[in-house]
Amino acid sequence: MRALICRTHGPPQTLALAEVPQPVAQPDEVLIAVKACGVNFPDTLIIQNKYQFKPALPFSPGGEAVGTAIAVGEAVKHVKAGDRVAGLCGWGGFAEYAAVKSTRVFVLPANTNPVSAAATFYNFATAYHALKDRAQLKPGEKLLVLGAAGGAGLAAVELGKLMGATVIAAASSSEKLELCKHKGADYAVNYSTHDLKESVKEITHGAGADVVFDPVGGTLAEGALRSIAWRGRYLVVGFASGSIPSFAANVPLLKGASITGVSWSGFAEREPERNVANMQQLIQWHAEGKISQQIFKVYSLTEAPQALQDLADRKVMGKAVVQIE
Ligand SMILES: NC(=O)c1ccc[n+]([C@@H]2O[C@H](COP(=O)([O-])OP(=O)(O)OC[C@H]3O[C@@H](n4cnc5c(N)ncnc54)[C@H](OP(=O)(O)O)[C@@H]3O)[C@@H](O)[C@H]2O)c1
Repeated sequence: MRALICRTHGPPQTLALAEVPQPVAQPDEVLIAVKACGVNFPDTLIIQNKYQFKPALPFSPGGEAVGTAIAVGEAVKHVKAGDRVAGLCGWGGFAEYAAVKSTRVFVLPANTNPVSAAATFYNFATAYHALKDRAQLKPGEKLLVLGAAGGAGLAAVELGKLMGATVIAAASSSEKLELCKHKGADYAVNYSTHDLKESVKEITHGAGADVVFDPVGGTLAEGALRSIAWRGRYLVVGFASGSIPSFAANVPLLKGASITGVSWSGFAEREPERNVANMQQLIQWHAEGKISQQIFKVYSLTEAPQALQDLADRKVMGKAVVQIE
């Protein structure tokens, strides 16, 4: 089969297309004929050996494979050959076939568009776990989303609206903020040109944001935390800026606020039943057209390194997807 292979750690240009043996499904795995695979920020880190998961070399990146189940291990009960599936596999998806642990495989309606599904489920699963399970976001609350035009951010914007929140999208350009407004954001803050804390204060008439969804970290985090409301929840989702923020403990003390970690993969491993319930809700909303990730561009497998480079260069708005013909 054809696969994009990482033989030595490095930037996207070090990846190469190769002919490699097709994987075989182990007893607890599903073999997927991959039609499309979402491109996510962790892919850019895994290939540099800078992410929490460190697959042995050589490996294929690509953590969000959608296609058809063509073989199912004997211990797998919820998937059968022929099912349309999403495999939130961590890596291995930029390939014609991927063998994925069954707890990471979710059956989709037969008519699901693979490109749309590959753009959606990882980011929305993360954002839904964050907003529902970790923040207990309530209708009418004010949700501030940083990096709001990125994959995780835009999912939080759309889900925040679906859950009844007032959404303040924050991003680095007016073009990115236009997209957030198109996806339902009520307010937009350009943090390249405006002070984040002052802007949120103005929008919320001094009350602050009840929930902050932060997949960016770095220098934005302090202003975002200081903009939080009484009993606010600050969701630590990721560090796309490349820098892990440190927080002054007096802010949560004075605001009765909490700083809350979000790990979708930890949740999926440790609380599989709750994760499956969340996924079923998201699959239903996707089928009903209530959630739909913005697709930035569809790349071929040969172009996948460029997709990773575009993501690392902060060019992608919504989601890049690799389609496997
Ligand atoms: N905790 C979890 O379970 C979980 C799950 C999925 C992803 N994540 C993490 O969430 C973060 C975002 O992932 P994603 O897939 O949404 O990424 P993405 O689509 O690339 O979005 C990240 C956003 O961060 C902003 N950004 C600021 N500085 C940046 C920089 N130096 N390089 C790149 N982007 C920068 C960009 O928005 P502006 O240009 O508007 O600033 C960009 O749109 C990553 O750290 C990822 O590992 C965590």
